[in-house]
Amino acid sequence: MHSTFSDPSSHPSSLQLTPHPSYSILLDMTQAATALAHPNIAFIKYWGLKDAANRIPANDSLSMNLGGLSTRTTVTLDPSLRADVLILNGERVSGAGLERAQLFLDRIRRLAGNPSPVLIESENNFPIGAGVASSASGFAALALAGAAAFGLDLAEPALSALARFGSGSACRSIPGGFVEWRTDAETGDSFAKSFAPEEHWDLADCIAILSESHKKTGSEVGMRLAGTSPLQAARVADSARRMRLCREAILNRDFNALAAITELDSNLMHAVMMTSQPPLFYWQPGSLAIMQAVKRWQVEGLPVTYTLDAGPNVHVICLKEAMDETLTRLRRMPGVLDVLLGFPAGPARLLPGDSQVSLQKV
Ligand code: PMV
Repeated sequence: MHSTFSDPSSHPSSLQLTPHPSYSILLDMTQAATALAHPNIAFIKYWGLKDAANRIPANDSLSMNLGGLSTRTTVTLDPSLRADVLILNGERVSGAGLERAQLFLDRIRRLAGNPSPVLIESENNFPIGAGVASSASGFAALALAGAAAFGLDLAEPALSALARFGSGSACRSIPGGFVEWRTDAETGDSFAKSFAPEEHWDLADCIAILSESHKKTGSEVGMRLAGTSPLQAARVADSARRMRLCREAILNRDFNALAAITELDSNLMHAVMMTSQPPLFYWQPGSLAIMQAVKRWQVEGLPVTYTLDAGPNVHVICLKEAMDETLTRLRRMPGVLDVLLGFPAGPARLLPGDSQVSLQKV
């Protein structure tokens, strides 16, 4: 079935709904679909919105998908349900978490012209809400599984644009490998696109977990404060330059250049967070200790760099050849509970029905 937008005004951009080969499986319209998506780590961060209603970010951003870490989500249409049901890691979710998923599903229901309630079953193999972007893989998987279950046939840019309404960074988990999320100033199109495949560069992300608890101020609330920092305007004004340097560093596989721009960008975002009103401090003493250790390890010649999202966990990115040494050093750091591993990974994808794919392996 080819669906059209039942409510064209709800569509944020001029992107067309055209068939996309990688999603052709969804042409046999089923009432259930399962999708798998990876989180991503941004080297150039998204923080703050230019247009909150259309979720247009204040600046473009650039990331790498993280394989090994995954969300698998099944959406099943069930007209007999009175309301949507969300099961996350085996537990039924109510309140704000459910509402957020429902609002996102409403967008898909409008596009499909089908009001059916759904059962959403979602599973992560990594902790939620502590600096590993579970909302990115979560909403990327939900966008793909939801669109497929409702028989929508979306090209990758349209799917990415859809996913950003769940969580901005989710749009970057739709394409594979190394990804840029750009907004076209003229058309308002805002979606992510791959600029290098996952095989391009053998990097590893060693994620030092300092806390597995849910962060106090989520990124949605935190981002609304970004404009209250006097540093945000300068951070945004310089972002096109950082995008360019980061893209070049990745395309040239220049680790030192990548490290310099990645650390600058993370520090800039946290400087904005710390100088917002009220201020947001996501770092813990252990986070700072790791950042300082990374600077020492660089002097010793270890190809490592750091970046932190809206949480205390530190993403220590290294060349794969330095991964074992980096892991050993991180595990010795005070306060480190665990170290998760992520590698450049492919796009969000549909899985065959009743898929038993082990999340440990993908
Ligand atoms: O996608 P959100 O709304 O969860 O925002 C994520 C923002 C950061 O992770 C802090 C930065 C980024 O670009 O991923």
